[in-house]
Amino acid sequence: MSEELTVFNGTKAEQYEHLLPQIRALISTDGDMIAHMANIAAALQQQFKWFWVGFYRVINNELVVGPFQGPVACVSIAKGKGVCGKAWQESKTIIVPDVDQFPGHIACNSASRSEIAVPVIKNDIITGVLDVDSDALNTFDDTDAQYLAQITSLLAAVC
Ligand code: SME
Repeated sequence: MSEELTVFNGTKAEQYEHLLPQIRALISTDGDMIAHMANIAAALQQQFKWFWVGFYRVINNELVVGPFQGPVACVSIAKGKGVCGKAWQESKTIIVPDVDQFPGHIACNSASRSEIAVPVIKNDIITGVLDVDSDALNTFDDTDAQYLAQITSLLAAVC
């Protein structure tokens, strides 16, 4: 397939619906998980222009930053720490409307105002976290949670 992504204007759900088949195609080939994470982060960034989007991977019982788009980020996060560490510990998606109201939020960049962290789950084991930061408050909702979980499931299925 052409490697060029087409972006779409529409509701948030329509944007995800347009993006999902393209992500599915991008990661359909057997491949390295890091390569797929890199393309997923790039595709999400092209469509949504978020402040930061990327992956943390579980390595030696901590989260280590992986492929991402955006400003430099914290290298490692302990289980239970910050939004990502909590998503890992509790094995669930966490939506943070205002990072200043989230106890223990890890501020990799002071411009981040709201956030969503979605675990990547393979055979009931968390192998990483997809993290997205916005420079606006209240950016993420159940629509993001639902579609980003579909994307992490696609990734887990091929890696
Ligand atoms: N804010 C995250 C840390 C990762 S960065 O936002 C890229 C957290 O609290 O886990």
